[in-house]
This record gives sequence, structure tokens and C-alpha cells, in this order.
Amino acid sequence: MYTDARGLTLTTSSEAAAGHFSDAIDDYLDYRLSASAKLKMALDEDPDFVMALYFRTCFLQMLETGAVLPKVNQALEGMKQRLGAVTARERGHVLALEAWAQGDIIGACRIWEDILVEHPLDILALKLHHYLTFWTGRSYAMRGCVARVLPAWDADTPGYASIQGMYAFGLEECGEYDAAERWGREAVERNGEDLWAIHSVAHVLEMQGRSAEGVTWLDYADERWAGCNPFIGHIWWHAGLFNLAQGNYDKVLSLYDDQMCAVNSKFFVDMQNQVSLLKRLELRGVDVGDRWEVLADHGETRIDDHILAFNDVHFCLALAAAGRSDHAQRHIASMAAFGEGAHNGGGWTAITMAATTVPLCQALIAYEKGDYGNACDILWPLKDDIAPIGGSHAQRDMFAQILCDAALRDGRFAMARSLFSERISLRPSSGMNWQCYADALDGLGEGDVAAAARAQAETASEPAA
Ligand SMILES: [Fe+2]
Repeated sequence: MYTDARGLTLTTSSEAAAGHFSDAIDDYLDYRLSASAKLKMALDEDPDFVMALYFRTCFLQMLETGAVLPKVNQALEGMKQRLGAVTARERGHVLALEAWAQGDIIGACRIWEDILVEHPLDILALKLHHYLTFWTGRSYAMRGCVARVLPAWDADTPGYASIQGMYAFGLEECGEYDAAERWGREAVERNGEDLWAIHSVAHVLEMQGRSAEGVTWLDYADERWAGCNPFIGHIWWHAGLFNLAQGNYDKVLSLYDDQMCAVNSKFFVDMQNQVSLLKRLELRGVDVGDRWEVLADHGETRIDDHILAFNDVHFCLALAAAGRSDHAQRHIASMAAFGEGAHNGGGWTAITMAATTVPLCQALIAYEKGDYGNACDILWPLKDDIAPIGGSHAQRDMFAQILCDAALRDGRFAMARSLFSERISLRPSSGMNWQCYADALDGLGEGDVAAAARAQAETASEPAA
């Protein structure tokens, strides 16, 4: 028995293995690719080290595709044979992974929460809970889990900056922007390598419409993040959003081509980022050329791969945006069949299919086919209930933007006025919101108010185009 950097017992016969395992956690918290190599070193020292086997298998599961499940389940069988020799905390981790692999995301998170009741310094349990809760869109669960362990930590506890960065993100998703920014900036000051904390501050800037600050916040040279895992692509996505809001479309396209697509990755987060940025460019009238094609090619390979609803929605949008509506419809049929499994004990992704994921995808297909009325009919009643597909408020805003655009295109100007009223109330710095609000007012014959809205668009800190 040895302990990790925070004093938690590790069942291993090797002190060196325990050290490598702790290093792997540090690397994971900073999104460094080297985490996997550290785990290999730990397992070279002690092949029976359950927590190292577990963490390695978590990385596999984090690819979020059914293709890895045979390997994950095989690894779980090996771990379960060793559970008699490990602590209750370590056993809990393995059972959480088993629930995760079965699609029971909530069940996995509950086990990590139970672990944290007894072991609030278990940063791996906290980070995995944070990661997986994110994909359920349950903001208060994210914030609450970090808040419950916070008093057990102080600035001298190794990894404290990561706790601050996670808390900042939970606060941000709950709309507590001032506190989120304060915690996030302090985390980055403590550890400038913490991409999640950098990302938490970026979210605050995004939600508050502070895109000029955001461009500066994420203005990094490529080589700054050499050695980072693919999460860096999501940081570039945020940089893309800030530049989009500033009207720097050439910069957005270069970020897309040179950073986000540089590794030609099929990793699910890359797909989400790329689909989301292309659609937002199109919503601003930018010609994205044939960029949908490669995304749709990948989407075709994932038609029956239902692991995260957020993935399904983006794969489906890629198919529809590339004009492959037959494939998109096949995807919907496959999702619907998967959702019916919810009645037989299916997990969160299955449960959310019928009420949220499938209708959302139907709306996206309708929108891409130019059937804007149908898109409005589906999205209007769904608009405030999309969170269960997971992701952040900033990511899910794409669906709100699509509804706004559909309402304008279908001539539903009263609906559009209502939707853009919401947007100018929440983000008055956006010139595009004011411009579209004015378009809706013009459609309703309210020329004077429209002219006033256009004047606001002219002076907004985020230009209209
Ligand atoms: Fe983000």
C-alpha cells in the first residue's frame, strides 16, 4: 500500500507505480497527452495495480464510441477479479466505470459522489464526475459536487488550481459569472497550464458578450500547447466564437483549417467543435465551401453509435448540412430504436432520446432542407428543454441561433421579435442580435423601432458583421 499526492491509499506493491499514477493524474488535469505513458509506466511496475488499470480504461471509455466497449468490458473483467484486494474507494471507482460502460451515466456519477463523501480529496473521482455530468447538461450537479468538497481543500493541497477551475466552470454554467471569473482567473494564476480553468474564464467572456477580451484571452501561438490532448481543439473553438462575434471571419476559417482540423481527428469533441463552428459561420452568411463533406463522411460511420446525445445531434447535423438527408433520417430511426431501450433500463442517453434528441435532430434536418416552418414548429416548444443532451450553454446556443434564423426565414416575425428580444436582453453587446431584432421589427412594419435597433447594432461592441 502506498498513497497518492493527496494521501489517498493506493493498492499497489510498487512505490514507483504509485508515483507514476499520481503523475498521470497531474497530466490528465492539465490535458497532457503524456498521461497515458505515465499509466503504462505504472503498469510496467505493477501489472495488478487496479487504479492504473481503471484509469487507463477510463481513457478508452472517454473516446465515447461503442467501438471501444469490448475492450472496456474485457478490462473491467480483469479488474473485477482483483477487487477483493483493494480498498472500498478503489472498488467504487471500478463499479462507476462499469456503470459508465453500460450507459448508466447518472449511476456512475452517483458512485463518484459517494466516494467524495468519504474522500473529498479524491480529485480523480471529482474530475470524472465533472466530465460526465457535463454530458448530461446538469449544471447544478456540476457546481454542487465541487462545492461539497471545497472546504476540505486549501491552497497547499496538490491540485488545488484544478478544483478552482472546475468550480469556476460549475459557477459559470449556473449563471454566476462574477464568482466564476474570480475563481477561474485565480486558478490560471496558480497554474497557467490548466486548460480547463482557462476554458472556464473563456465561457464567462462568451456568455457576457465580451468577445474582444476573449480574442485576447485565447490569443496563443500554436506551439504554446504542444503536447496537449485533443481538448485543445475546443479551446480553438472558443477562440473561433470570439473572432466570429468580432466579425473576423478569415481568422475563424484559419482557426478551423489550421488548428481545429490540423490533426484530421475523428475524436468526438473535434467533430462537435467543427460542426458547431461551420454552422455558426453559415448562420452569419459565410460560405464554408465543401467543409461539410468530411464531417458528413465521419457522421455516416456513427449512425448506430449512440453513446452521448450531444454526439448524435452533431453527427446528424453534419449529415443534414451536407445534404445527406437520407442518412440523417437513418440516424434518427436508429436513435429512436435506441431510445426505446430506455424502458428496459437504458441509461441517460437512451432516456433523453424521445423527448429531446430525436425531435431536435428532426428540426435540424427540416432546417437544412429549407423547411423553416417545420423547424420552428419543433424548436419553439423545445427551446428551453435542450440541456439534457449535454454540453454547455455556449454550445447549445447554436440551436437557439438556428431557431432564430428559421423564424426570420419563415416570416414568423412576431416569433423572431420575441426570440431576439431575449437575445438583446441577455447579450446587448451583440450587433448581430440587434440587427436581426431590427429585421424582425421591419417584418412587423415597426420601422421606427427597427431604426432604433439598427442604431444599437452600429454601436455594439460585437459588430453585426
Ligand atoms: Fe467550452
